[in-house]
This record gives sequence, C-alpha cells and structure tokens, in this order.
Amino acid sequence: MMRRRTTFLCSVVGIAMGTTAIAGPAAAQANPSAVADPQLWSALDSGPALDPTIESRIDALIAEMSLDQKVGQIIQADIASATPDDVYRYHLGSILNGGNSTPTGSYNAPATEWLEAADAYYAASMKRNGSLPRIPVIWGSDAVHGHNNIVGATLFPHNIGLGAANDPELIGRIGEVTAIEMRVTGLDWTFAPTLAVVRDDRWGRTYEGFGETPEIATSYAAPLIEGLQGKIGDEDWLRGPHIVATAKHFLGDGGTAGGKDQGDARIDEAQLRDLFSPPYLPAIDAGVQSIMVSFSSWNGAKMHGNQSLMTGIVKDRWNFSGFLVGDWNGHGQVTGCSATDCPKSIIAGLDMYMAPDSWKGLYESTLADARSGILPMERLDDAVRRILRVKLRAGLFESGKPSSRPYAGEFERLGSADHRAVAREAVQKSLVLLKNEASVLPLDPGATVLVAGDGADNLTKQTGGWTLSWQGTGTKRSDFPNAQSIWEGIEVAAAAAGGTATLSPDGTYSDKPDVAIVVFGEDPYAEFQGDRPDVGYDDANSLALLHSLQDKGIPTVSVFLSGRAMWVNPFLNASDAFVAAWLPGTEGGGVADLLFGRKEFTGKLSYSWPRSSDQTNVNVGDANYDPLFPYGFGLTTGENGELERLPEDRARAAPADENELFASGRPGAGRQLRIGVPGQLAANPAPDLITAQGADRNAQEDSVRLRWTGSGRAAAAIVQDAPSDLTRQSNGGLALELEFKVDEGPSKNVDLLMTCGNACVGGFPLQALLTKVAETGRWTRVSLPLSCFAEAGVDMSRVDTPLMLVTDGRLDITLASARIISPTGGQLSCQ
Ligand code: BGC
Ligand code: BGC
Repeated sequence: MMRRRTTFLCSVVGIAMGTTAIAGPAAAQANPSAVADPQLWSALDSGPALDPTIESRIDALIAEMSLDQKVGQIIQADIASATPDDVYRYHLGSILNGGNSTPTGSYNAPATEWLEAADAYYAASMKRNGSLPRIPVIWGSDAVHGHNNIVGATLFPHNIGLGAANDPELIGRIGEVTAIEMRVTGLDWTFAPTLAVVRDDRWGRTYEGFGETPEIATSYAAPLIEGLQGKIGDEDWLRGPHIVATAKHFLGDGGTAGGKDQGDARIDEAQLRDLFSPPYLPAIDAGVQSIMVSFSSWNGAKMHGNQSLMTGIVKDRWNFSGFLVGDWNGHGQVTGCSATDCPKSIIAGLDMYMAPDSWKGLYESTLADARSGILPMERLDDAVRRILRVKLRAGLFESGKPSSRPYAGEFERLGSADHRAVAREAVQKSLVLLKNEASVLPLDPGATVLVAGDGADNLTKQTGGWTLSWQGTGTKRSDFPNAQSIWEGIEVAAAAAGGTATLSPDGTYSDKPDVAIVVFGEDPYAEFQGDRPDVGYDDANSLALLHSLQDKGIPTVSVFLSGRAMWVNPFLNASDAFVAAWLPGTEGGGVADLLFGRKEFTGKLSYSWPRSSDQTNVNVGDANYDPLFPYGFGLTTGENGELERLPEDRARAAPADENELFASGRPGAGRQLRIGVPGQLAANPAPDLITAQGADRNAQEDSVRLRWTGSGRAAAAIVQDAPSDLTRQSNGGLALELEFKVDEGPSKNVDLLMTCGNACVGGFPLQALLTKVAETGRWTRVSLPLSCFAEAGVDMSRVDTPLMLVTDGRLDITLASARIISPTGGQLSCQ
C-alpha cells in the first residue's frame, strides 16, 4: 500500500475538505521584464549533441502517445500526494520527494523503503496501459549536500563551506559520491547543484550558494555536474554510477531585494546577465540535463512566466537541449495562474511543472487547455520531447526496475569509509580561521581540552537544513549512524595527540583545562524560515559561556556553525581563536584535524564578513567596500592572528520572531491576547463568560490558563496589530503548533478558527481532540497544517486572528505556546 502521508496523531473530525491546491498570491506585476537584447548574452552551442537514434525514438513515441499521456508526462507530483497507482492512471512523467516527504511518512524512513518505493513507482509507470507506449517515471530529490534525505548517508558541508574550499577537483569527487549514494536507493535525479550567487545574507538560502560572486560557482559547475552525471560521450554518462543533475534556480534567486525568499531581483539586464548567469554556461556545456526555474521575480515578473529568459535565453541562445523543471507550485505564482491552472508557464518555456499536491487539478486543466488549443500542441510536444530525451539519454527505458540497476541495494555504500573520507577532506578545506591570538591554534599536543557549547555534540546543528527534514529540524543522534559529531572527532584527535578531552556542553569542569573549545551557532533552517531581518548573531548563553571561561583564565577557541557570514563581534572579542565552520555535515573529525594541526587551514571566505549587524549585503567589488573580513580572507596558523578589540554595539535590536503567536506567557510581537464575546473581543472582555490568568508550567507565568464558564458564547484569541500574510507559510507546508493541557474537557462544541477580516473565517471543530487530551491530563503538542485553514476558507494573505478558540460550553485549558513551525513529526489531518 503506497498511499504515503504523514502519520497522523489523530484526525480532526467533522469537516470534509477536498485536496484542492491553494492558489498562489496574486502578486502585482507592474513592470513585466523581458530580455531586451539576447545578442548581449553569451551564445552557447555546446552541451551534448542530439543523437539521431534517440530523436527518432522520440518521434515514434510521440506519435503513439495519447494526449492524456503527453499531459501527464509534463507533470511532477510529490510522493506524499501521489501513489504509484496515480502515476499509472495519470501517466505522470515524474515524481519528487519534497524536503518533508518520504516513502513512509516518517522523516527517518530506512533506505530500504526508498528503494522499494522507487521500484513501486517505476513498476506503475511501466504497467501496460492499452496500446500506449510505456514510459519510465523519473524521481527527483534534493540531494544538495550528499543524499541528505537518507539515514546513514554521507553528508557534505553545505555549499557555503564548499565555496570556502575553492577546490574544483574535490567538488567533482563530491558529485561522484552523491550520485552513487542516490543510486543505492534507486533514485536517478538530483535537484542540485544550486548555482545561486548570493548578494544579501539575510536570505535563508545563503548557505546553498557557493559564494557572493559568480566566480566559484562558475568554476564548480562543470566538475560538479560531471561528478554527478559523468562526462558527455562516456558510456556511463547519466547511468551506472551517475544520475541526472539540475542547475538551479534560474535566474537571479540570490539577487532578490532584501534577501527575501521567492522575492524580486530589481536589477537591470546587464546585472542579471553578468552576475547571475555565468555559472549556467559551464553547466550546460558540461551537459546538465535539467534547469530548475526560480520562484523569484525579475523586476516584478515571476521567472515561471518569463518567456524571454526561459525560451529566449536558455533554449534559443544557449541551445539547451534538456528540460526546464518548475519549482514547488512556482507556476501558480505567475499572474493569472493558480497552482492547478497555468498554461502560461508552459507556453513561456517551462517543460515540467513541479506540482507536488496540485498535480491532479493541474492535469485536468492542462488537458482541457491542450484540447482547446490554449496550450499549442507544438509546445506540448516539445516539452514532452525534451523530457523523453533526458530519459532516453539516461537509459531509463532499458535499465529495468531501480533495484536492478548498478549500485542499487548496496546499502553499505551509504556513509562508507571512502565516501566519508571525501566529506572529511571537504570539512578540512572549508573551515576559515578568522582569529588566532597568541597562536592558540593548533592546540598543543597533550593539552587537556574542555569541549563546550550546544553545538559540540549536535548533529542536527552540524548538518543544518535539508537534512532528513526540510528545515533540518527534529533529528536526533541515532538518525546519523555513520556520522561523527565535532565532539566525537575532538575526543579521538585529543587522545591521538596524547592529551585528553572532556565534553561539557555548559562549560562546567572539575579540573581546570588548558584550553576550551566552544561550539555554537545557528539552529537549522532552510528556505524562507531562514530569512532574517539582519545578520546579527544573538546567543546570550554561548557568549556568557565564553566570558566565564575567559574570566577563569582559560583560552577559548570558538567553532561557529552558521549558514551565512554573521556579525559576531562580541563572540570574536571573547575568543582567543575563532573558526567559521559553516555547516560541516557528518564529518566532525575534519574539524578536529584542523584544531589539532593535523591539517593546515586553507579555507578562504567566499562571502564577505560583515562589520555590523545591518551590513547585510556587503559584497566584494562594492563601491565603498568595508567588511570586517574581506572576500578571500582566511588565516593559516602560521600567520599572525591578532585581532583588535571590536565594537560590540548591535546596529538594531534583535528582531521579533513572526512565527511566534504566543510563548513564555506572552503573545508574540505585534500581537495581543484577547478574550470575550466573539466579534467584539476588544470591547467586551466578558469576565462572566471567560477568564485568562497567568499559569506556571516550567517557569513563573510562562503559560496562560483560559476558563470558559459555559454561561454564554465566548472566545480567546491571538489578534494581530496588523494583518499577516501567511500564504507562503501555508503553501510551504508549515503548521500551527499548539502546546497545552486541558484540565476540564469541553462540555459543548469548540471551534479552532482563524479570521481574515470582515466575514472571513475558517477552521475546525476541536472538541474531540480536547476531550482526548483532557483524558490524558498531560501537556500535549499538536500541529495542524496551515493549508487546512486555507482549505477551510481562510484568506491566508490577510490573517488578522491567527488563533481563536470559541465555545458556548465549559472548558478549562492552559496554553503554553502557539507557533508556526515546520512540522517534522505527525500532524493532524484536515479531513
Ligand atoms: C526549492 C527547491 C527544491 C524543491 C523541491 C523548492 O521549494 O526551492 O530548491 O528543489 O522545493 O524540494
Ligand atoms: C519545499 C519542499 C518542502 C515543502 C514542505 C516546499 O516549499 O521546497 O521541499 O517539502 O515546502 O511541505
């Protein structure tokens, strides 16, 4: 049984809702932008030549295919929303696993399940269907730092670290290892490499880019793609140990104003061309077979609708013969489109829609458009031709079921010693030494070392986003059976050097150590959730830890884990040595190799390091370039590593977390807790109907106790000072998480609602769940997909009350927190 969904804790009863996809925001697109002069863009006529045998096979296939089959071929569905039988019935050309989708619904599904699922989807695509030709499905997956959706895989440093390594030969080997590990699980297509040039480090995807200039991405594109795909002309190109790669996200993803995810790059054509397109040329030249179109806009117009770039540049000017795949419902954001209806994108040059949960509606509307001629047959045939070309080039028609292909099922290759050695080398080459007062590094052999900080023995922090879950959150040590934490690496290295190391996350010790290594940094995040208002790093605990060690006369070595260059002046001041370690992946031993001088530091910044917390977009080549550490900076331990004392004033107060609705006994910033008569919450608090009172859970008044008396209809709500646009959160699979206990279960119906202005409301009955929780008497955490509220009629673009509980009956509930989160475990179903 392959219907794959998240495992539900329990089901919210009573409301039946369809699976209609959510329309994207109708973004105003005032200045449609088009390339004015394609002649100014480099011409390209390389890449793999068309093979006449393949082309005539495509002709024959297209001649035999039904219209339904052609439409299915250009649609990619997510495994969480499409079964193998759907692939068969709707002739789907492709499937993907989004960052939170796995074959079992559990984020740590075993590798064996992936291979079985690959077989099941393949078999469905190849099942005889009348006289229609059989076309194998292709499965795309974000193997962006190794095969990161798989337990036990070798995980490399994220691209920001690889950029600092600046080693094209190494990058080729990383591609080879990633391809083989994907083959083990039967997957044949990665959505990598990301060739973004990142100009504003507030962007939550900064770490997915190799650098702030096109330089390194351009030198990496060919070796990485050849590592993944093999070399054009070789027998094992796209097969055997190789897979299909994707250059993404075309174009200007890293150039959006304010570093906003899915934002708008407001730049002229010369900048778009010269800053963001260079890495695509060697990528196409090296034979990359797919290019993913960016969610973002260029001067107000979404890329997914930009004919001048998708067709004019990629296909006509660069002669790209593979296919353009969309990004997660990205077509739905084009003006006039929705996730389930968008002929415009295909007409403009997209070849395959990524329609994770919207595929069925999209299939129907596309079929209708193809029948009516709104979608010209010539364009549809060309899109199909390109997809078939890649499948034929990759030998998918002949290679049999995924588990029968080379390397499949050789699970011992996941995280094998030779693969891990490549990752360790990458770690050694990616760390950048920023400060080294009195040559504290390398550590003296024989030293007694205290290893502190919440990142020291923490694979979740060390691996970052896109690791087993989309945002990289919610993982535990046992999910990384082949990994070594930084602490574990140090422990081995210290012993080998004749010294000792002790792990003490909070920095306490009984015997005074010679030196302390403090590992700290950002918690994992990925797209959108990682966007920030500035680049200041705030972490009072780690700073206090560094200060207390220094106060005791212990030299401190900071190992900073982050997905971007950040303002860390107070931390630099409190450290004798400071190492930017980025997001190193599974090989903590590589960090230890440098600290203990088994290897010398060679990493150099590929992102300028900010001088202040509001220096968010400092890039080499700027007119008044004034970073703290420039592009290319990086010490060796032989150099003078002194650093003057730096100013510690933060340019702006720490920003509020907009995903926090209620926590620590208080509503989040820009929000109020209101109780009273529904519809008149501000005016009528109605104490005879409902009361709210501070309550203690872990700390004094860190929660609120809400009691409904049952003598009339009353509500408790978190109300916004100004409406919030939660469209992106809802489309992106985020959920409303509530943490509460119920002292007295509901005596009547209770509704959980969101409101969005006058007469705009939607939600679910919640009494069944509250009754269950009351029975347990325990603190309980549940998450409800935001998309359920959208489906229930909430206009997510203008939510003014993100949380409201209403009942006529009695109820006694204590709320500890309400947050918008990226769920990694079970969530409630909305149907
Ligand atoms: C991301 C892509 C990714 C895709 C599939 C999108 O949200 O932007 O980089 O490949 O999802 O997971
Ligand atoms: C991401 C997917 C992810 C999904 C969460 C998308 O925006 O790109 O990879 O799984 O949101 O539902």
